[in-house]
Amino acid sequence: MGSTVFFTTVTALIMHCFMSLALQQSIETDKYALLALKSHLSFGPDNIFLEKNWTAESSVCGWYGVACDDPRVNRVTGLSISCMGLTGSISSSVGNLSFLHSLDLSWNSFHGNFPEGIALLQRLQHLDLSNNLFSGAIPPSIFVSLSNLQSLRLKNNTFSGNVPMEVADLHSLTVLDLQFNLFSGPIPLGIFNLSSLEILAFTGNKVSGNLPMDICSHLPRLNGLYLWNNEFDGPIPASLGNCSQLEFLILSSNAFSGILPGEIGNLSSLVVLDIGDNQLTGSIPSEIGHLHRLQSLSLGNNWLSGIIPETVGGSLEIQELILNDNRIVGTIPDAICNLRNLSVLHLGMNSLGGYLPPGMGNLKFLRTIDLSRNSFTGKIPASVGTLPYLVNLSLAQNEFEGSIPEFQQIMSLETLDLSQNNLTGGVPQSLEALLYLKWFNVSYNRLSGQIPTGGPFRNFTASSFMSNAGLCGAPQFEVLPCSINHSKRRAHLIMHLFLGIFPASLVTAFLVFLFIRNRKKKIASVQNVESPDIKQKHISYSELQTATNRFGEGNLLALGSYSAIYECCLSDGTYSAVKVFHFKNARAARETFLTECDLLSRIRHRNLIEFIASCPRWDLDIGAIVLEYMPNGSLERWLYSHNYCLDISQRLDIMIDVASALDYLHNNYYFPVVHCDVKPGNVLLDEDMVGHLCDFGIAKLLSVRDGVVRTKTMGTVGYIAPDEIMQVVDCNLLRQDHQIANFEAEMQCVSTIMELALQCTATSPGERMNIQDVVSILKKLRSQIITQNCDRTPKSKRSETLCKSTS
Ligand SMILES: *[C@@H]1O[C@H](CO)[C@@H](O)[C@H](O)[C@H]1NC(C)=O
Ligand SMILES: *[C@@H]1O[C@H](CO)[C@@H](O)[C@H](O)[C@H]1NC(C)=O
Ligand SMILES: *[C@@H]1O[C@H](CO)[C@@H](O)[C@H](O)[C@H]1NC(C)=O
Ligand SMILES: *[C@@H]1O[C@H](CO)[C@@H](O)[C@H](O)[C@H]1NC(C)=O
Ligand SMILES: *[C@@H]1O[C@H](CO)[C@@H](O)[C@H](O)[C@H]1NC(C)=O
Ligand SMILES: *[C@@H]1O[C@H](CO)[C@@H](O)[C@H](O)[C@H]1NC(C)=O
Ligand SMILES: *[C@@H]1O[C@H](CO)[C@@H](O)[C@H](O)[C@H]1NC(C)=O
Ligand SMILES: *[C@@H]1O[C@H](CO)[C@@H](O)[C@H](O)[C@H]1NC(C)=O
Ligand SMILES: *[C@@H]1O[C@H](CO)[C@@H](O)[C@H](O)[C@H]1NC(C)=O
Ligand SMILES: *[C@@H]1O[C@H](CO)[C@@H](O)[C@H](O)[C@H]1NC(C)=O
Ligand SMILES: *[C@@H]1O[C@H](CO)[C@@H](O)[C@H](O)[C@H]1NC(C)=O
Repeated sequence: MGSTVFFTTVTALIMHCFMSLALQQSIETDKYALLALKSHLSFGPDNIFLEKNWTAESSVCGWYGVACDDPRVNRVTGLSISCMGLTGSISSSVGNLSFLHSLDLSWNSFHGNFPEGIALLQRLQHLDLSNNLFSGAIPPSIFVSLSNLQSLRLKNNTFSGNVPMEVADLHSLTVLDLQFNLFSGPIPLGIFNLSSLEILAFTGNKVSGNLPMDICSHLPRLNGLYLWNNEFDGPIPASLGNCSQLEFLILSSNAFSGILPGEIGNLSSLVVLDIGDNQLTGSIPSEIGHLHRLQSLSLGNNWLSGIIPETVGGSLEIQELILNDNRIVGTIPDAICNLRNLSVLHLGMNSLGGYLPPGMGNLKFLRTIDLSRNSFTGKIPASVGTLPYLVNLSLAQNEFEGSIPEFQQIMSLETLDLSQNNLTGGVPQSLEALLYLKWFNVSYNRLSGQIPTGGPFRNFTASSFMSNAGLCGAPQFEVLPCSINHSKRRAHLIMHLFLGIFPASLVTAFLVFLFIRNRKKKIASVQNVESPDIKQKHISYSELQTATNRFGEGNLLALGSYSAIYECCLSDGTYSAVKVFHFKNARAARETFLTECDLLSRIRHRNLIEFIASCPRWDLDIGAIVLEYMPNGSLERWLYSHNYCLDISQRLDIMIDVASALDYLHNNYYFPVVHCDVKPGNVLLDEDMVGHLCDFGIAKLLSVRDGVVRTKTMGTVGYIAPDEIMQVVDCNLLRQDHQIANFEAEMQCVSTIMELALQCTATSPGERMNIQDVVSILKKLRSQIITQNCDRTPKSKRSETLCKSTS
């Protein structure tokens, strides 16, 4: 105490001398003080702000970061040089800026002790030294004359020692932010008497002490109390319920003990309640249900017992419910299913049991579910497999039984831990579709059947499948090999299902039928074909932003119903197209994105658009797919624009391209794919005018399980009435100048194609032609046309046949 008095006296004396000098000071004093400040700093020559801007010749009030905005005095009142990459120490000359109200030096790399010159700035209201490399203890004298200080931000430095008691003399203080330093020792209790205080933040230090029992009596305006990761202990005072403005109460990672008082329920403004990682006992008070604005309730890692109160559903805004690692009993209350904004549900390591509420499937925003190490029973609700944003799911160490639900709708899934349950049945083949699955565990269950080998399963090891006597599969999984009978039975099942299909007379049905007819012959040989291992490039979202000029209009190629396509030049110099989906408020956009990623990443053919990478940013509600760039745009443009035309042999080539793509999709891939939207707009032409089928947004992957159900919908109905050929044929073909003989040969060829088209769209599946036969007929036609010399364009010059409109 004695030393404080001494400092106070000395400082007062200094202040007195200083005040008398101040009368003779002027704006020139400020300029010299700032030039002296500059001379202590180091910065690159490209720092135009200081090097070229702060010059002795120019007026100091025009300098970057300098404000002179008090009209009564012609002096510098504000200095803000935050985030400028500056290093060095702060010259004591800063103390000559005697009219300074606001000083912001944050986000640089200044070092040294607390700049003592600041002690002289008695008009200072706002001081921000955050995010620098300042160090050492704070001299108590610093605060003596800063009685006007309203905000003091020292966050993220390496200040150490005790928090000086003199902080409590700053009676105007509204913000005290000392987070992420090395402060230690007891918190000066006087701080809790600073009645203007709104933000009190000590996070990430080693400060200790109790919260005063009457903490709110003198802090009527407290909005945020951030004390996590310190050494506070003692009880949570019931009187906290009187801090009616409190929105953020963050006390986690301390040693608070005792119960969580019901008065917490009086904090009607509370948004975040985080007292995790302490030693709280007792049960969760039902008054929690009164916190209607609560978004995060985090009480994990305590010694709480009792049940989860039904009132936990009181705030529909809740996004995080973290109660893991306690001694909570009972079941998950049904009310949880009303928390539609819930994103994180951590209930692991408790003594919960019973069935999962089936309504959990309503919680569409869930990203993480951890229910591990409890005693839940019953089946895993199928609806869990439909949560569209789920990233982490752990149900390990429970008593779940029944089969593993289908998860293929959760393309975002990264971890799936179902180990140590009582699950039976197989590992669903559909899990192969989960491209982002990194961590998978079904050990210690009673699973049987073949372990899938495609997709992420390539990288899994035996430790994901331990102790399931019935599993068989590849040697890498250290299980028995599967018997041949197994796959034969599956082939029969596929046939059985598909022979039963004949629903709509739409194009879809035609496509499906094409598949069935051929499947009979193909099935045996396809059985062991693996999906091709298509290597995705890694392209970050920020690279895409750069490569498309931040998705600028100049790069926009096309707008679809759920996506926009941009031209982009990647960092390796390749030209690509990037298809961007915005998920926000458009569930269908998300589904389209997932379907396209899923399919495109698995299929590859010279007549399909080439997939380069996908880049989902679930956090931004955006997904991007990087695709091969097609310089000649869509076939639709070529067919329906008067500026372009295609001759018959080019058209035939493109038809062969599209038919080959369909043949590949239907017959050559492990699971047959039905495109569902084949139309000229979805055929893109590369620089050699080779057709590439694109837009797999509503395509369907047929699997053994859902082949029948899924093909009933969709499809654009094509309609061609059998009129006279000359009346339906594109007049661009007729208009071209050519010899009569060729003309007749061409028209013959056109009529054959028309017949073929009509056969492909026949109402009855039995009358439709196999797509492989279509390809070979088209190829035959093409060779006839070449021999009849009606192909006037050499193949290598296909792209140059641009013809101008004649009208
Ligand atoms: C210094 O920067 C400020 C703010 O950018 C500008 O208005 C002023 O003209 C510059 N002065 C000189 C001398 O470059
Ligand atoms: C501060 O101001 C005083 C009085 O004008 C002057 O003598 C002194 O040199 C100044 N210090 C700096 C570092 O500018
Ligand atoms: C702390 O400051 C350093 C240096 O300015 C910065 O690099 C770092 O990101 C900051 N950390 C936090 C948590 O703000
Ligand atoms: C806080 O203020 C109360 C009442 O004004 C006073 O009794 C108490 O001593 C003060 N506490 C501290 C630590 O200054
Ligand atoms: C809250 O404040 C009221 C009046 O301001 C007081 O009567 C009551 O005791 C306080 N509650 C607690 C728990 O301190
Ligand atoms: C505060 O909470 C207590 C206990 O929950 C309750 O009895 C009291 O009425 C509440 N006070 C106010 C002002 O809401
Ligand atoms: C929470 O959900 C409600 C509707 O139930 C919605 O209006 C609100 O915007 C959501 N809040 C957040 C933070 O997502
Ligand atoms: C999923 O779990 C991993 C590992 O525990 C964690 O790093 C990641 O942040 C979690 N993701 C989400 C969305 O919670
Ligand atoms: C697992 O299920 C079987 C029968 O379905 C039952 O007999 C057995 O007790 C269950 N094991 C556990 C640990 O629940
Ligand atoms: C398998 O792991 C390797 C290396 O960890 C990774 O590069 C590759 O993408 C993974 N493959 C799959 C299918 O996850
Ligand atoms: C799966 O779980 C078992 C049992 O908990 C564990 O021993 C094994 O290491 C886990 N495997 C992986 C890949 O995490």
